[in-house]
Amino acid sequence: MDSFLIEGGVPLRGDVIIGGSKNAVLPILAAALLTKDPCTIRRVPDLSDVRFMLEILKSLGAETRFEDGTVTIRAAKVKGFGDYELIRKMRGSICILGPLLARFGQARVSLPGGCVIGTRPIDLHLKGLAALKTKIKIENGYIDARVRRLTGSTVFLGGRAGPTVLGTANVMMAASLAKGITVIESAACEPEVSDLAQCLVSMGARIHGIGSPTLTITGVEELHGTDYEVIPDRIEACTFICAAAATRGDVIIHGSRPEHFAAVLDKLIEAGVRIERKAGTLRVTRPGRLKPTDITTMPYAGFPTDVQAQFMALISLAPGTSVITERIFESRFMHVAELMRMGADVAIEGPNAIVKGGRGLSAAPVMASDLRASAALVIGGLAARGKTQVHRIYHLDRGYERMEEKLRGLGARISRVAGE
Ligand code: EPZ
Repeated sequence: MDSFLIEGGVPLRGDVIIGGSKNAVLPILAAALLTKDPCTIRRVPDLSDVRFMLEILKSLGAETRFEDGTVTIRAAKVKGFGDYELIRKMRGSICILGPLLARFGQARVSLPGGCVIGTRPIDLHLKGLAALKTKIKIENGYIDARVRRLTGSTVFLGGRAGPTVLGTANVMMAASLAKGITVIESAACEPEVSDLAQCLVSMGARIHGIGSPTLTITGVEELHGTDYEVIPDRIEACTFICAAAATRGDVIIHGSRPEHFAAVLDKLIEAGVRIERKAGTLRVTRPGRLKPTDITTMPYAGFPTDVQAQFMALISLAPGTSVITERIFESRFMHVAELMRMGADVAIEGPNAIVKGGRGLSAAPVMASDLRASAALVIGGLAARGKTQVHRIYHLDRGYERMEEKLRGLGARISRVAGE
């Protein structure tokens, strides 16, 4: 398993280009199942999760090509059953359920496993599809879904932690080809959900209320192909901004959409980071000491849970006490123990992490546990004095394209050590 070797203490300087959004592209690739026509998807990041999703689509019988950031998919001859081993391994693959039901009236996919950040239930996905008249059976770890004709209905998709992103995606895709009108109440408003909605509209779907908590989808007989460019990855942008601030660098972020992460920018500025907007770029500097601040993760447009770990690495450098409250997932503090090995002072009390900063971080061998935790450890390693080795970097490759190359382009001393 590969690891990163980082010699910290070097201020990041220069320009970085943000790639396409992982969490937008995964459901958009699944949406190609909704039509026999070829679909061209642009600004697709080369990530292991993307390649996994393409493998799944191929196992369903789709023809796929992925070259220079562009994917073409032709799902003319697909079947309703995919490679369960593949589907079981990636949570994001749950979003093939809606399209398969819409196309075939039946689908058999494995229950997505949980992961380190939480149990990851899918009750809201199933509630939404059942509202469209789907019959669902769960047995031997598989979801067996059948429907004679998807029929529009009104469904409330809010759960104990608010709306569901991929649940909204699944129901919206199924509703696009259902008979009649579907209203999704408490729909997720994340930019990635809106991007999927816009892509579906470009395929002929009729969707109103995009970006709002109430989506109204009027089913159509069929959808046609599209040529669609995915939004930039707001989480990658926030990750590089935290890295620039943590190393007291001077970095220009190109190609991001700051309106997609206003809550993060607000908290970064409160913590003493300077963000200058100029002609579509963001210049990130940190002139003085960081200041402690509190964050609570929330559904969009609140502070995104996917930036919580990276922000903790940054704020652990701020003299004083900061409180980070994780309200979306029940165990998204796996990065804490590893940051503490680097000298961070963090106490966990239920959903709260009390971070006492100011002593700086020191290099240590650390272990990545999940995608965003590994990003936090890289940020810690960049800020720490000495050499940090981050093990199990395959977690990072799921969601960041060529991260070590982009960081080296900013002057970081980082290299990938082939698997031991
Ligand atoms: C998406 O996951 C993202 N993944 C996650 O990003 C992100 O953290 C999450 O949305 C929240 O923003 C992709 O888009 C591929 P949810 P998703 O359903 O859709 C509970 C990353 O690092 N819930 O919005 O699976 C759930 O337990 C990944 O890029 C139910 O209770 O998340 C959680 O507490 C990690 N029942 C909350 O809702 C359900 O049926 C939000 O989950 C579904 C979810």
